[in-house]
Amino acid sequence: MKCKKSYCVLGIETSCDETGVALYDVHRGLLAHVLHSQIELHAEYGGVVPELASRDHIQKILPLIESVLEKASCALQDIDAIAYTAGPGLVGALLIGAMVGRSLAFALNIPAVAVHHMEGHLLAPMLEPNPPDFPFVALLVSGGHTQLISVKELGDYELLGDSVDDAVGEAFDKTGKLLGLGYPGGAALEKLAKQGNPERFHFPRPMVNRPGLDFSFSGLKTFAANTLRNTPFDATLHADIARAFQEAVVETLVIKCRRALKKMRWKTLVVAGGVSANSALRTGLSDMIVQLNCQVYFPRTEFCTDNGAMIAYAGCQRLLAGESTPLQVDVFPRWPLMEL
Ligand code: KG4
Ligand code: ZN
Repeated sequence: MKCKKSYCVLGIETSCDETGVALYDVHRGLLAHVLHSQIELHAEYGGVVPELASRDHIQKILPLIESVLEKASCALQDIDAIAYTAGPGLVGALLIGAMVGRSLAFALNIPAVAVHHMEGHLLAPMLEPNPPDFPFVALLVSGGHTQLISVKELGDYELLGDSVDDAVGEAFDKTGKLLGLGYPGGAALEKLAKQGNPERFHFPRPMVNRPGLDFSFSGLKTFAANTLRNTPFDATLHADIARAFQEAVVETLVIKCRRALKKMRWKTLVVAGGVSANSALRTGLSDMIVQLNCQVYFPRTEFCTDNGAMIAYAGCQRLLAGESTPLQVDVFPRWPLMEL
């Protein structure tokens, strides 16, 4: 017998190089989540190979669904709805999660809902014990996005600032590659930067002297390349460049977040997406927030990068708001969050 106090959503994430599956219950919270990362599969190519990503999602998705059910001691019949990432992302990869999610929902005769990947990231801090209240300013920092967004409530999103070129995660990955780190370079660059001397190089803080909330990070990667080329090699060169790069990124993001909070006159900042795992960024933003007498919220580290839990949570909120997606499966490789 199904307990009436349960409304259980299966979340499926396959937008890029992680297969994530989770079960979120509206009353009991997150029941279980599992993740398979394809990092090793793509490492030798220095970036994600879309066809390999799709093939791997196909192989992993059903065993992962079985495993999440087992972890939560649930049966297929305990699932009340299915949420899947419908975009933005790699078209082939998205199609795997969308087809499996939509078909399973059809077979079980339950609703399905298409979730926006970045809305998943944005709401990931809601999975924590002390979640933020609306409204808030959100900083979304991932491999494909660097955006400041005003969030009045679920689905009411306004773009305050965006990157005019590379996303910040992309800049971490490209600079990491220059420094001989594997793919993706963000976490490895952070580790290397810890050994670096912050006094040795000073990198520019792009676009901070101009009004507005837009970002530009491709110049920092070029600055790193030029510094590497023009400095005679020594044992700490790579670590010192990593440190200077990271300090420039963090200070730039801190300045823009402060500006966004002042513009909106709001007291809450939410930071999400893969780069929000970076501890220098977390410290920089937390220090600034104390000065402003505001609050900052981050997801737990494992939910900063792609995962099924954030999709299950976002899908659950959409379902509770009365939404569901018809039988026809559509995915949206490019899908601005503001269209929601
Ligand atoms: O959100 P995510 O998993 O995927 C996208 O939706 O893009 O973000 C992945 C990005 C990669 O660029 C990765 O290098 C970066 O997040 N990242 C980090 C750290 N961990 C992951 N960047 C800086 N420091 C980290 N600790
Ligand atoms: Zn992501």
